[in-house]
Amino acid sequence: MDKLVSLCKRRGFVFQSSEIYGGLNGCWDYGPLGVELLRNIKEAWWRAMTYREDIEGIETSILMHPRVWEASGHVENFTDPMVDCKECKARFRADQIEDAPCGSPAYRGRKASKCQAEGKFTEARQFNLMFKTYVGPLEESGAVVYLRPETAQGIYVNFLNVQSSSRQKLPFGIAQVGKAFRNEINTKNFLFRTREFEQMEMQFFVKPGTDVEWFEYWKKERFAWFCALGMRQEKLRFSAHPADKLAHYAKAAFDIEYEFPFGWGEIEGIHNRTDYDLSRHEQFSGKSMKYFDEESKQRYTPFIVETSAGASRSLMAFLADAYAEEDAPTADGKTELRVLLRLHRTLAPIKAAVFPLVNRDGMPELARKIESAVRPHFRVFYDDSGAVGRRYRRQDEAGTPYCFTVDSESLQDQTVTVRDRDTMRQERIAVDAIIRYLREKLPT
Ligand code: GAP
Repeated sequence: MDKLVSLCKRRGFVFQSSEIYGGLNGCWDYGPLGVELLRNIKEAWWRAMTYREDIEGIETSILMHPRVWEASGHVENFTDPMVDCKECKARFRADQIEDAPCGSPAYRGRKASKCQAEGKFTEARQFNLMFKTYVGPLEESGAVVYLRPETAQGIYVNFLNVQSSSRQKLPFGIAQVGKAFRNEINTKNFLFRTREFEQMEMQFFVKPGTDVEWFEYWKKERFAWFCALGMRQEKLRFSAHPADKLAHYAKAAFDIEYEFPFGWGEIEGIHNRTDYDLSRHEQFSGKSMKYFDEESKQRYTPFIVETSAGASRSLMAFLADAYAEEDAPTADGKTELRVLLRLHRTLAPIKAAVFPLVNRDGMPELARKIESAVRPHFRVFYDDSGAVGRRYRRQDEAGTPYCFTVDSESLQDQTVTVRDRDTMRQERIAVDAIIRYLREKLPT
């Protein structure tokens, strides 16, 4: 993890939020490469979901009517049990004390469970994870609103708007990508548990009785999505929520977990939410949320199968999966350590780099010409500083799949070398074949 975090900072993937002020716990900023990778992940998800006939997209507001969160059960149930250490004042999630270190610098290396056994902790209190704020100038109870802790509710309250405007029939889904906020008691493991993060959620509305079948369908689809983007299958697994640990809305739930360097962790949840959400919104708003089935002439409340992935957590899993170190030969016949990101080509932030071998003899001019021809089609990076071997290493760390180098031969025959990031193999291709080459290699 330390190596990954360090690479993220060094190469401009992820920075600590407000770093010059000492950072803000649980918040991170995405740098030039990170934001591109994050956008590529979200775009791949958006395409997989909404380019289907049976799923519509939506973008709803972060602030919603406060009754939404009463109806959804979040005001009452979205809590974690919290305890405080009476001695060092550190705060812990009561259900996660086992692995936590003691909060006092005076007891370095000590486990919090030891302090608990010694009776240093307060009784557990329930702590609501929703961030509260106020609309308008007065900070009074009637003006309270919440930063959404999941994007799902914006979809549920718009179910009939989307269904009638798009003339969809059941079964169909609504997809959304957006920010969610949770005032986590303990943030941890880099981007894994943060207070501000992005979700990619899809709610699939189905006829009651067909929900189990659709649940199985979406489990398979979502697992396959991660594999299709290059994630190693042996690093992924399903984990079922036991009946006594199910969220307040769920009839069945499975997590897709990735084996991070710190252990297995959830990257996506697939939930059978039954008719809980639509029924509750009907009850709390007084507006019907029922669907009229023209075929059977029945009116009923659909069941919902939800797929809920964290965009930032997926990014961390894709990065961890892509990170590799290997011995690579140097020009003088020795070997050196090569660090690279074997990111899937669809996700790679930069698709191609162009280098002049040296900064003279017309090489930079030809390299610049190639760069400007490629730029309208693919994200390309021009680099003319340092030895070419070092330039390759920099692009390896950025996960760039192809590097094109202009050398003296290029000036004679209008060819360049193209180097493959993963195999380090080089071949010569014609300058005017570069775009065609990239189109063939890089799926859209
Ligand atoms: N709408 C259902 C829902 O929100 P969840 O299991 O609480 O379910 C879904 O969250 C996904 O959102 C998780 O699998 C994870 O990828 C991401 N997620 C949840 N809490 C997070 C946090 N504090 N930091 C980063 N990602 C988080």
